[in-house]
Amino acid sequence: MGTMVMLLLSFSFCIFSARVDGNGQPSAYEVLKSYNLPIGVLPKGALGYTLDRNSGQFAVNLSSNCNVHVGEFDIKYNSPITGVISHNNLGRIGGVKVKIALFWTDIENVNRNRNQLRFKIRKVGTKRFPDSDFNSCPNC
Ligand SMILES: *[C@@H]1O[C@H](CO)[C@@H](O)[C@H](O)[C@H]1NC(C)=O
Repeated sequence: MGTMVMLLLSFSFCIFSARVDGNGQPSAYEVLKSYNLPIGVLPKGALGYTLDRNSGQFAVNLSSNCNVHVGEFDIKYNSPITGVISHNNLGRIGGVKVKIALFWTDIENVNRNRNQLRFKIRKVGTKRFPDSDFNSCPNC
């Protein structure tokens, strides 16, 4: 019985350790995961963030602004990235733009529906991708 409790305790501790950074705060990527969103929604280089657990208001600082090419798209992340987070959804996004044809427009919402991620893009509409495309963070 005692051994079992010890095992459970050390197991929980491992999970806990893996989930927090040096300051004892979960990383911005862990916040995404806790709302069932893939970490690849944010690029590498996420630093401090603020999260209001009641309203879902989320703001992430990046170590630098970031331009990435993902699949057929050019995406620009301008720090801070803001949004309202809830289970399976990041809405009212600020700071993320995508180039479609020749113009830049805002990515407004990211929503997970089972194994699909749906991006709502201003003036363009919704684009869907397999969530597995977002298992790692784009490199700036
Ligand atoms: C984000 O960056 C701004 C500007 O440098 C700074 O004032 C703010 O404290 C940072 N927020 C967090 C949570 O690190």
